[in-house]
Amino acid sequence: MPSQPKVVVTRPIHEAGLKMLQSRYAVTVHADTIMTPTQLRTFVKGADAVVTLLTDAVDDTMMEAAGSQLKVIAQYAVGFDNIDLEAAKQRGIIVCNTPGAISAPAVAEHAVTLMFATARHLLPADTFMRHGRYKHWDPNLFLGRDLVGKTVGILGSGQIGSQFARICHNGLRMRVLYYDICRNEAIEKDLGATKVSLEQLLVTSDVVSIHLPLNRETRHLLGKEEFRLMKPTAVLINTGRGPIINENALVKALADKELYAAGLDVFEFEPELAAGLAKLENVVVTPHIGSATELTRQGMAESVARNIHAVLSGETPTNVVSK
Ligand code: DGY
Repeated sequence: MPSQPKVVVTRPIHEAGLKMLQSRYAVTVHADTIMTPTQLRTFVKGADAVVTLLTDAVDDTMMEAAGSQLKVIAQYAVGFDNIDLEAAKQRGIIVCNTPGAISAPAVAEHAVTLMFATARHLLPADTFMRHGRYKHWDPNLFLGRDLVGKTVGILGSGQIGSQFARICHNGLRMRVLYYDICRNEAIEKDLGATKVSLEQLLVTSDVVSIHLPLNRETRHLLGKEEFRLMKPTAVLINTGRGPIINENALVKALADKELYAAGLDVFEFEPELAAGLAKLENVVVTPHIGSATELTRQGMAESVARNIHAVLSGETPTNVVSK
């Protein structure tokens, strides 16, 4: 009997996907720790398929160490900025991700959570209560920003950005501006969204939310100059990738009140925060949990298993990033 193809998973993912893989392949799941590049190279040796996470450095040396039988790298995320796509292409390895459509509801809801939390001082107000500082109703206590009818600007109008814009428009009657390389006719038609330049979006929006992939063009897209363009009453949300923001410049802009507040789920130096960020009251930070709902992670794991199965069966997977 021919031996089963070997699938290695760099950290435990949702069991729904693992079960699908285990029913067909010889699956090895690494412990829930981040491997060093050396450990990763040893772990992937002999694999036909590797399931990777955004915490893995998937470079040419890893692919070399895996061996020439490696056919597919299936990323358990929408983003794939940790993977050297060029190296994979050179080696004929297919790279897949999980579809934005699966993560969009959860990530968009988290972006909305951060928007409300920052606009209404949720965390300082909660701390105030817990410390017994609420003595009497105060007409000036924790005055925040209104959102209904305001302008929201999304950077990136893919599945997640569009879903966030839909919630803002349909739930809060917000006007939608978007910045993207492509036109998004669906949100123009459904939400009356307008495609604008980055500058126009930053100058006009009351809420700016980042939903772009991280690449050479988007790294440090927002820094000192861009924060100066934004309204001092504006809220900035990032559930995309940390390095799209120059985080040190953001700390300064928030401390100098050039921006009203920021809600961040991703960080430039993840898992570290830029110096001074955690001390600011006008910031809400969460540990990269945008897509962390049971259903979403289940869907992501199943999609990873389907992608691997397609490649190992000689078919084309639905979520190819590069081949
Ligand atoms: C993604 O999908 O890229 C998230 O950042 C991690 O789930």
